[in-house]
Amino acid sequence: MSTSSHSAQRLLPPLQIGPLEVETPVVLAPMAGVTNAAFRRLCREHGGGLYVAEMVTSRALVERTPESMRIIHHDPDETPRSVQVYGVDPATIGAAVKMIAEEDRADHIDMNFGCPVPKVTRKGGGAVLPWKRDLFRDIVRAAVRAAEPHGIPVTVKMRKGVDEDHLTYLDAARTAEKEGAAAVALHARTAADYYSGTADWEAIARLKDAVRTVPVLGNGDIWAAEDALRMVEQTGCDGVVVGRGCMGRPWLFADLQAAFEGRAERVRPGLSIVADTIYRHGELMVDTFGGDENKAMREIRKHMAWYLKGYPVGGEARRALGLVETLAELRGILDSLDLDTPYPGEGAEGARGRQGSPRQPACPEGWLDTQDITPDLEERLREAELSVSGG
Ligand SMILES: Cc1cc2nc3c(=O)[nH]c(=O)nc-3n(C[C@H](O)[C@H](O)[C@H](O)COP(=O)(O)O)c2cc1C
Repeated sequence: MSTSSHSAQRLLPPLQIGPLEVETPVVLAPMAGVTNAAFRRLCREHGGGLYVAEMVTSRALVERTPESMRIIHHDPDETPRSVQVYGVDPATIGAAVKMIAEEDRADHIDMNFGCPVPKVTRKGGGAVLPWKRDLFRDIVRAAVRAAEPHGIPVTVKMRKGVDEDHLTYLDAARTAEKEGAAAVALHARTAADYYSGTADWEAIARLKDAVRTVPVLGNGDIWAAEDALRMVEQTGCDGVVVGRGCMGRPWLFADLQAAFEGRAERVRPGLSIVADTIYRHGELMVDTFGGDENKAMREIRKHMAWYLKGYPVGGEARRALGLVETLAELRGILDSLDLDTPYPGEGAEGARGRQGSPRQPACPEGWLDTQDITPDLEERLREAELSVSGG
């Protein structure tokens, strides 16, 4: 989709994550319910980068639930194979990482400390966990120790903290660095911010100043390649992590690669390319869900509004796409659209996906009183793993 120009100038060197060299310093953010094998394939067909799977809980992995095994499954040609693990208990995390490593199921493991969902934070998990410094350290240590003998790098993804009065990211990142994490990524919002407002890129710059020996990855509000360039310029980060901006726009990875290579080409698809991509996504989803067309169609429905954002597609077609049940039906509805429709410009750009409003995160009673952990709180934390499903 893009060609190289003679005056191209690389903006950043390749991203070095432990032994892994990622030529284009771009990471697809792990997104539960979105970044499955089908979507990752669509994305990586457009550009270089590191494509992280949906998060999976360490408990589910240890129990080898069918869903967790599906989540960590990669297409045979996918390289590097990246997974994200969420957990609250060092022993379970260690066991899950050991299993992935010993069974050669991934080349990179990311750890999720960013989930702001109330049912998780209420128990002390996700974005509020790094507040308990020793527990955070023990979890990262357990993961790194289990992965290290197999040469698999472990990275840490986190938010700024619980809220502006309880920031954790600088401490946590230094701890992660000391424990052997191969990179740290910051979604520059607090749990209290949820997905509201704009990400605080200055925090990414501060993190870059604080962390000296491993790459710092910036995350939050990259909607276009130009945003990624601005983030690098403003924060000095070593790479960018892109989430919502690529939902319904897997070609954003072509734009990002071009931008990081100093080229001006950008993909601006007309509706016919979008329709072809939706159909291909549908076909890939059927593969991802083991041939279960019904499940695949249920899963792809949520992508429709993202794909069609800004395109003049009427309510009737949108409704039909939102209820699609078979690939044949999908083809029929897509063919009925005015496929000569050009790229709509601004309407297709900008923010998409989750926004939400700020909310004080629910934490266990007394959670914020001390950064130490008690046996009672550890018990509650174990429940935080059972209720997590993304974010
Ligand atoms: C639908 C959805 C699912 C998400 N699931 C995860 C997840 O499984 N693990 C994680 O660390 N972050 C998850 N996130 C957060 C993203 O990885 C990312 O940090 C966040 O969306 C901010 O980046 P963005 O502004 O580029 O979207 C999720 C976000 C969305 C919108």
